[in-house]
Amino acid sequence: MTLDLVIRGARVVSGSSVATCDIGVLGGRIATLGTGLTGDQVIDAAGLIAMPGGIDSHVHIAQPSGPGIEMADDFASATRAAACGGNTTVMPFCLPEGGQTLREAVAAYRAKANGQCLTDVSFHLIVTATDPVTLGQDLPALIAQGLTSFKVFMTYQGMRLSDAEILQVMDVARAHGALTMVHAENEDAIEFLRDKAERAGDIAPVHHARTRPIPVEREATHRATALAEIADVPVMIVHVSNGAALDEIRRARGRGVRVFAETCPQYITLTADDLDRAGFEGAKWVCSPPPRDTDEQGAIWAGLDQGAFDVFSSDHCPFRFADSAGKDAPGARAAFRNIPNGIPGVETRLPILFSEGVSKGRMSLTTFAALTATNHARIYGLEHKGAIAIGKDADIVLWDPRARRAITQAALHHGADYTPWEGFEVTGWPVRTILRGRTVMLDGAPVGPPEGRHIARACAAVTA
Ligand code: URP
Ligand code: ZN
Ligand code: ZN
Ligand code: ZN
Repeated sequence: MTLDLVIRGARVVSGSSVATCDIGVLGGRIATLGTGLTGDQVIDAAGLIAMPGGIDSHVHIAQPSGPGIEMADDFASATRAAACGGNTTVMPFCLPEGGQTLREAVAAYRAKANGQCLTDVSFHLIVTATDPVTLGQDLPALIAQGLTSFKVFMTYQGMRLSDAEILQVMDVARAHGALTMVHAENEDAIEFLRDKAERAGDIAPVHHARTRPIPVEREATHRATALAEIADVPVMIVHVSNGAALDEIRRARGRGVRVFAETCPQYITLTADDLDRAGFEGAKWVCSPPPRDTDEQGAIWAGLDQGAFDVFSSDHCPFRFADSAGKDAPGARAAFRNIPNGIPGVETRLPILFSEGVSKGRMSLTTFAALTATNHARIYGLEHKGAIAIGKDADIVLWDPRARRAITQAALHHGADYTPWEGFEVTGWPVRTILRGRTVMLDGAPVGPPEGRHIARACAAVTA
């Protein structure tokens, strides 16, 4: 057997072990782990760390985003940025628009992605309707096709579902074996606070954060876990931003509810003060839930330390600051209500966690791999992904743990026109990303052609 590729001499992070060895790749899969391997292509990786390629299970790409606002990334730019940030799989959402059925939306997103992607792609759904066609036909059919997870929103006008509707969706998830992801914020409370703020003339970006305070998320997190308990299904609470919401998750787990939890780089590195920067600058940090304060960052770190979080994702949702601030944009963008929610982060997620966690000595390499790849694969059912192990796809990222960088917009590859982490200093940087045995990023530059595939999934977390 002649191996196609040998990655020689890296410290290999594999499951619960870290050992220096060679990785042998054949036919795009990991064929062997050993020493003294030879093959057609040899990559000398001495001094580097080999990790499972990052799986970012929460990204938004080319989603419709309201009048006059387009998302800053298409599938080409988002997956280029993802690969440059050490990722080999991204999991974006299919959101029906303008009367589309869910099945039509999936077809449309597949068409947008086809032939464009430098990483593999596996879609989630967003369920915004609970009519008989959606719940009775489309969802079951799409689950059977391997789209085994869907997000529901408790916030955002036009997208939010009522508690009764969420229970109906969870019941479909239960019957057909899918995982429900919940965006937990109380929309009624937000609207009350937003109207009140606007009446007082408080329309600057920082009021986005002030009108989505912690109890808004804590209450909805409690309700989401209770609904999952009532429907008797597992649930994923996405983008948890604070300790009180995490406590609700801990309590639900204590009652025996299967609750998975996700957090994101913004909740360990940014604060609401970022939204309070001079002029309209704060719009660059508008996301939901909003970044909190250093105490809450500490609570999220405590959760990471204790294993309370299953996955660390980016919630990449890129907009152009120029669009938000643009004088030609329709409506008064100057009001925080009109700033599209979301920040870019698919390229910076892994370096931020590596630097803040691994390089600062507070997170092991194996925990890093679990939070950034292995657990995403296990929970969402990407059975060939997420680990450097024999038989898995050869999705590997090589890290230089000594590389020191300041994150800058100029060096990133996404379509947004800024990064919320401009000037943020990190130690540790991905230097080569390998997708099914082929290099897709080398020394910071994307390497084509775009051969990313659509990955259908079984629902491991539900059937396990
Ligand atoms: O502000 C955010 N997070 N925008 C992206 C959509 C979502 O809610 O995840
Ligand atoms: Zn969300
Ligand atoms: Zn999101
Ligand atoms: Zn299944």
